[in-house]
Amino acid sequence: MNRILITSALPYINGIKHLGNLAGSMLPADVCARFERLRGKDVLYICATDEHGTPAELAAAASGQSVRAYCDEQFEVQRRACAGFDLSFDYFGRSSNAPNARLTQHFADILEDNGLIEERVSEQVYSIDDKRFLPDRYVEGTCPHCRYEKARGDQCDDCGRVLDPVDLVEPYSTISGSKSLEVRETRHLFLRQSKMQGRVREWVESAVDWPPLARSIALKWLDEGLQDRAITRDLSWGIPVLRHGKVRPGFENKVFYVWFDAPIEYIGASIERAEAGGGEWESWWRTDKGADDVTYVQFMGKDNVAFHTVSFPITLLGSDESWKTVDKLKAFNWVTWYGGKFSTSQKRGIFMDQALELAPSDLWRWQLMANAPESADAAFTLEHFQTVVNKDLADVLGNFVNRITRFATSKLDGAVPDGGTPGPLENALVKQLKTRLTALTGYYETMEYRKAMAETRAIWAMGNEYLAEAAPWTALKTDRDAAALSVRTGLNLVVISAIIAQPVIPKAAAKVLDAMGVPEENRNWPSPEDRGLLDALPVGLNFTPPDVLFSKITDEDVAEWSERFGA
Ligand code: MF3
Ligand code: ZN
Repeated sequence: MNRILITSALPYINGIKHLGNLAGSMLPADVCARFERLRGKDVLYICATDEHGTPAELAAAASGQSVRAYCDEQFEVQRRACAGFDLSFDYFGRSSNAPNARLTQHFADILEDNGLIEERVSEQVYSIDDKRFLPDRYVEGTCPHCRYEKARGDQCDDCGRVLDPVDLVEPYSTISGSKSLEVRETRHLFLRQSKMQGRVREWVESAVDWPPLARSIALKWLDEGLQDRAITRDLSWGIPVLRHGKVRPGFENKVFYVWFDAPIEYIGASIERAEAGGGEWESWWRTDKGADDVTYVQFMGKDNVAFHTVSFPITLLGSDESWKTVDKLKAFNWVTWYGGKFSTSQKRGIFMDQALELAPSDLWRWQLMANAPESADAAFTLEHFQTVVNKDLADVLGNFVNRITRFATSKLDGAVPDGGTPGPLENALVKQLKTRLTALTGYYETMEYRKAMAETRAIWAMGNEYLAEAAPWTALKTDRDAAALSVRTGLNLVVISAIIAQPVIPKAAAKVLDAMGVPEENRNWPSPEDRGLLDALPVGLNFTPPDVLFSKITDEDVAEWSERFGA
């Protein structure tokens, strides 16, 4: 299993993403991709913007632009922010690009051929004043379940239930505010999910590698029984509904539903990459073309799990073609903002572009991974961010690297000293390092990121503990060889600390490894079995201590940011 396909849930195009979105999909997917590359795996990490549906149309209207122009602009904004966070996509595509349209139409055709799609008459909300149907978020009203007054046609933000626009009480148009709405009949395509119940259950039950959150959500949906659902909408922005290459009669003003085409864009983006000369895609996605030996890992927030464990697999399995399905699915809970939710529509929390104005990306990456919302929601506060960054990064890692590299340059000529054979202290250190490395690698493999970060921090802390015990500054006065041995060991520990930091804080890690003169080919993930774990640096190698790695976040910073972001 040397090839690993990684996808992150596709961010909606409607505005830049907040830290909660980042923490629940794109960032952990990036950390996973970086880890696997360091282990020598052949990785394809795919992401894209999710550009269809009412969120895009509404956001475009609010900004006074055409949907196409709005999406073009926001795609660049998001791409820039992702680059700022060092998200190492092998390709970042767009669901509005041609490969996705072709592929979505292909799936619709073949699913219909296989008896899994049929045209049905359905009831939709029609606005007399707007002279159009109002799908999904084009209509709001009172939630029939919890009485929340601003429930959206597709979902109630208060109780979280999935809704149908016709269920809303006292509905109104979000285009005009008009209340003169009626229910009219129109035709739509329905995906007959109920027919796939048995196959999906069998597939979920055979999926041995899913963490518990994903599996339990999938089984809950199956236990409730899969419902057939409409996969087309009365909208103009989206993928046209064709049948065998021609506009389907009666569907001239309809498009595919965004949740039907969006996951298909995982494949679409891989084709975009191939068309851009980035390498072929079929060996990643077609089990008849080599994808049998690919491990496919998906990352997403928990609200996306049903779509990835039920709907998208129905598209793939129902086609009876040889498509690769997910092997490991990692789902996350929410990051909360001072006890509430981060919210794009209400601009609550910190957004990716703003975060980069406040602090370097590594600091956010560390904070969000060390406190990943894995077994429960995770609270984000600026005060906690300050504590974590100052302790883990500045005091533990930064301080260790700084102390030993400066001591070596000022007292031992800035070169890796010799100092002879390791003694009992060094042997104990290697032993402990092996144990921790084994645990760390294991947590990365099981995608338990909080534990992986705790183990990473523990390895960094070993550096300070070792220096405190070995005390080369004292030894130097009486036993130069002993001091040299501790410095050599300490410098090697700096290198290991930076190597294992690469998946999560790539910039700081590279800075240390560059300063220590470690060539690219020696930056791979260490095996606990490696001989000379703490003896990799050649004796006599010259190096320059890196600049201060992390500056601390001050109380003034926190006060200023709290004010700016209404914390
Ligand atoms: N845009 C969706 C969200 O933010 C996620 C889409 S994931 C995909 O919730 F696979 F469907 F693209
Ligand atoms: Zn509700």
